Amino acid sequence: MPNQHTVLITAATGNVGPHAAAELLRAGARVRALVLKDDPNVGRLPEGVELFEGDLARPDTLDAALDGVDGVFLMWPFFTTDVTTAPEVVKKIEARARRVVLVSSVGVHIGLERVDNNCHAYLEELLEATGLEWTFLRTTGFQANALGFAEQIRGGGEVVHFPYGAATRTSVHEADLAAVGAVALAGPGHAGQKYLVTGPEELSQKEQVRIIGEVIGRDLGWQDVQHEAARAAMVASGWPPSYADGALDYFAMITETPELSSTVVADVTGRPARTFRSWAEEHAEAFR
Ligand SMILES: NC(=O)c1ccc[n+]([C@@H]2O[C@H](COP(=O)([O-])OP(=O)(O)OC[C@H]3O[C@@H](n4cnc5c(N)ncnc54)[C@H](OP(=O)(O)O)[C@@H]3O)[C@@H](O)[C@H]2O)c1
Repeated sequence: MPNQHTVLITAATGNVGPHAAAELLRAGARVRALVLKDDPNVGRLPEGVELFEGDLARPDTLDAALDGVDGVFLMWPFFTTDVTTAPEVVKKIEARARRVVLVSSVGVHIGLERVDNNCHAYLEELLEATGLEWTFLRTTGFQANALGFAEQIRGGGEVVHFPYGAATRTSVHEADLAAVGAVALAGPGHAGQKYLVTGPEELSQKEQVRIIGEVIGRDLGWQDVQHEAARAAMVASGWPPSYADGALDYFAMITETPELSSTVVADVTGRPARTFRSWAEEHAEAFR
């Protein structure tokens, strides 16, 4: 988008946002980040990003951030459709921007979503009904989801307790997902694409833990937590029951048949997708 490349990133200070900001800055864009009041994680964003305070649950707070943008890197941080502001937010984006990239989910790709009351399918439908040039990034799980093992490993345990160790994932590096989105926002040829974005390899969760162990110099094992006990723990920690069911049913499914895989990262960015081992090396300190 020559002459007009100003992009707003929502949910900007999570796992993906800082990478998206870095990629967009490298591509020459002016980058804005939507942040909640007193967000403790703004320090994760690279220098040069303009901060706009706003709340996706309160669309009236978004006008300043959206005025003058051409693109939006849209991430919807809510678990379910209980936050009802999506139609209004999408309408505001449509009124100002030309392009939008949505971080969606493999769950939509395989028809699992809606069933588990997740938001990605809903957001896709809203965006498809607009005149925006939209691109959906239907991503598999993030490699950063392995941070969910960190507390147990840091605590000195030699065995990680978690459900479905044999679930075989094609987890994607957050920076690769961000890079695909930045390319789609910066140039033509990506409008209307529903990209399945994955990492380059199939690894079971148990194998991911073994690799983390190798990186930090420890021999780490795995113990399955059974489905019902895992569900109870997820719900107790605040997950909506429908979301916990969706996640666990998906784990059960990819225990039988590995998660889908694609070459989208390499095809769109021209760079090979990053391996889980490289992610673990970058994040080794989180596990020590
Ligand atoms: N993890 C996965 O495997 C996976 C798979 C498929 C799709 N996704 C999607 O990927 C997207 C990005 O995930 P992520 O891991 O980067 O995000 P994340 O780490 O969960 O961070 C969420 C971000 O949203 C911000 N936020 C929370 N409530 C907000 C609100 N009301 N208004 C504006 N911002 C708000 C948070 O700010 P604070 O820091 O201030 O709380 C934080 O910056 C999500 O939309 C998720 O649905 C994730």
